[in-house]
Amino acid sequence: MTGVESSKSDSEPPATDWDELAPWWRATFSNGADLEYEMQILPLAAAHLLGCDRILDLGTGEGQLARRLVANVPEPGLVTGIDPYSGQLANALEQGGGPVYVQARGERLPFKSGSFDGVVCCLVIEHADEPDQVLAEMARVLAQGGRLLLLINHPVVQGPGSGFVDDRVLDERYWRIGPYLTEQVVIEEVDPGVPVRFAHRPLSGYINPLCEAGLVLTRLEEPEPPLEFLSDSFDLSLERAMPRLCLMCFEHRAGPLPVGE
Ligand SMILES: C[S@@+](CC[C@H](N)C(=O)[O-])C[C@H]1O[C@@H](n2cnc3c(N)ncnc32)[C@H](O)[C@@H]1O
Repeated sequence: MTGVESSKSDSEPPATDWDELAPWWRATFSNGADLEYEMQILPLAAAHLLGCDRILDLGTGEGQLARRLVANVPEPGLVTGIDPYSGQLANALEQGGGPVYVQARGERLPFKSGSFDGVVCCLVIEHADEPDQVLAEMARVLAQGGRLLLLINHPVVQGPGSGFVDDRVLDERYWRIGPYLTEQVVIEEVDPGVPVRFAHRPLSGYINPLCEAGLVLTRLEEPEPPLEFLSDSFDLSLERAMPRLCLMCFEHRAGPLPVGE
């Protein structure tokens, strides 16, 4: 396939081809290759979705979250992973483990409203063409009482232009913060020869649309980067104080608010 529609204008960087990146993603981030997934992302997602019987993993990639979440549910087939890219889904299917996989975009989920007790969207929304549409769809398919986990790169300290600065001339080391409120789409070379498109928006750009769709923010996690992850650090105490991940947990406690209120 690709079958991935896009509504973006020509002036924005092109969408990432996740079919092309599928072998890289699998080798670099799954099955124990990435410490952040092993030590933080997978355990946090499993803990926050305990008790959810029907789980959707939106933007499942090669399926490592979906496979992990199978242990949370009464039957393996109650975890569904969706992804628009067949290359990613082929890797997920090849590894099996019980989840059901469906090829679909997060902007248009092929499920009835209220189909899931738990929805997880992990490091995906920054790559979606229409993030507001993805947020609306996640809220729609979440049942009353259900839980939504949104994991993103921490937009306050990890956005475009942010990061550790080692100024050898002035002999200063500090963390620079980029223009936090500016919504922008950038291409970052995340590994040599691996360009990935990221859309940045402030935290309010995630929280407010979900609250307006009737969800309530119940928990915010900003874990310290694992020590093992920072083995090459120039300034451990500074880098440990700068979160990489931001996890937001929402609950569906009421119906959507009437327009205008
Ligand atoms: C950084 S990977 C994360 C994969 C997986 N969530 C994980 O944490 O292992 C981003 C994933 O988002 C998927 N993706 C990109 N655009 C999407 C969209 N519009 N809807 C759903 N998934 C999308 C990509 O195919 C890719 O698998």
